[in-house]
Amino acid sequence: MKDDVRKYIYGAITVFLLGVMTWISIVYVSACGVTLTCNRATFKVDRTPIPTLIPATLPAASNVSLQEPVVPARNSCRIPAADLIGAWVSAKAPEAAPFYFVDADGKNCEAVFGDVQPFFTESNLWRPGSLSCVSCHSGDMTVSPAQLDLSSYAGIMTGSRRAEDTTRGMDILGGGDWKMSLLYEFLASSKANVPGHEEAVIADSFVFAGTPFAGPLPTPAPTATPVP
Ligand code: HEC
Repeated sequence: MKDDVRKYIYGAITVFLLGVMTWISIVYVSACGVTLTCNRATFKVDRTPIPTLIPATLPAASNVSLQEPVVPARNSCRIPAADLIGAWVSAKAPEAAPFYFVDADGKNCEAVFGDVQPFFTESNLWRPGSLSCVSCHSGDMTVSPAQLDLSSYAGIMTGSRRAEDTTRGMDILGGGDWKMSLLYEFLASSKANVPGHEEAVIADSFVFAGTPFAGPLPTPAPTATPVP
């Protein structure tokens, strides 16, 4: 009787141990395969499908550049960015009409709004990493700060602080008086409390823009600050 009980107990323990071992074996084999090294358990090496990462850059400026090109655009004028925009503001030229200026080398030059527009629409232009003006001052009046649309000629002309999409706003071009304009003020001075305007963007950098104009200029034109 005592032996029987002992037999049952031993039997139960053996069956239990066998069960545990079988279970461990099943878990081991299913996880590691039939190996002793269990390579499968080592961490997988994470690799991107791109063998070499190409350094990302912001899109380069289109037809004007603040950095001196390796080969300066032939037959183009040299002018500080601020003077170029100033010449355009003072000329009050319609969108497609040329405006004139005397460039930093004393050359008579002409340019159109298209030469000025990149300063509003391109990122990375005023300085490396700078946001484009239109990333904030877009054509969408519901989100554009100061309800100012810098994305087009018409938008710029319509001005800021517009009540609705269509209404005329405040003239940001100072009626053609560049240095008195809101545009100049927001480009030339830093405004600590206005996001996007913490730093003045007008730098000494000059651009290659416009083309030399043969003969005397049709209208009196501003002269660019000479650049070395
Ligand atoms: C990060 C967003 C941001 C960027 C980028 C930005 N602005 Fe602004 N801008 C603002 C804000 C915010 C105000 C002030 C809005 C207010 O006072 O209600 C403002 C105001 C202005 C004003 C004054 C309008 C008025 O009636 O008071 C002008 C002009 C202006 N910006 C021009 C520019 C130009 C030009 C650029 C590009 C060089 C530019 N902004 C880039 C956010 C931005």
